[in-house]
Amino acid sequence: MSQRTLVLFKPDAVRRGLIGEILGRIESKADWAVKALELRTLDRSTLEQHYAEHVGKPFYAPLVEFMESGPSVVLVVEGERVIEGVRALAGPTDPIAAAPGSIRGDFGTIVRENLIHASDSEESAERELKIFFPDFS
Ligand code: RTP
Ligand code: MG
Repeated sequence: MSQRTLVLFKPDAVRRGLIGEILGRIESKADWAVKALELRTLDRSTLEQHYAEHVGKPFYAPLVEFMESGPSVVLVVEGERVIEGVRALAGPTDPIAAAPGSIRGDFGTIVRENLIHASDSEESAERELKIFFPDFS
């Protein structure tokens, strides 16, 4: 089942020079394709839409501040079961709990600066692709 997912390499990943390392793991999966890719500093309005589900939580304000703190890489990736697949490459939200071999498990320490975002369902992917790439079809 071919799908599209919205992926962000967060500002910590870009600052630390991990774009190539993370992109390589995605590109190495058979039959997945990068359909859009841009270095972009995310503005407040985009982040408020993207993280709408977290408004009011204690980590919301520091999360938005972190996400605004430098450029991210914004990507559309397409391929077989890519929504579940990029989440699996990323590992769970807490990088200390994430298994070695996963992106968060290999490179992260704290929950906020966990390197990568990937849509968590077909509904989220559809919603997020519209926020970040409104003209993409
Ligand atoms: P993402 O949306 O970024 O792919 O990550 P996720 O689904 O694994 O995690 P989610 O629960 O959606 O949280 C979104 C992002 O908020 C930051 N966060 N900080 N307790 C905390 O300090 C905390 N909890 C979450 C992380 O950057 C997380 O990825
Ligand atoms: Mg999430």
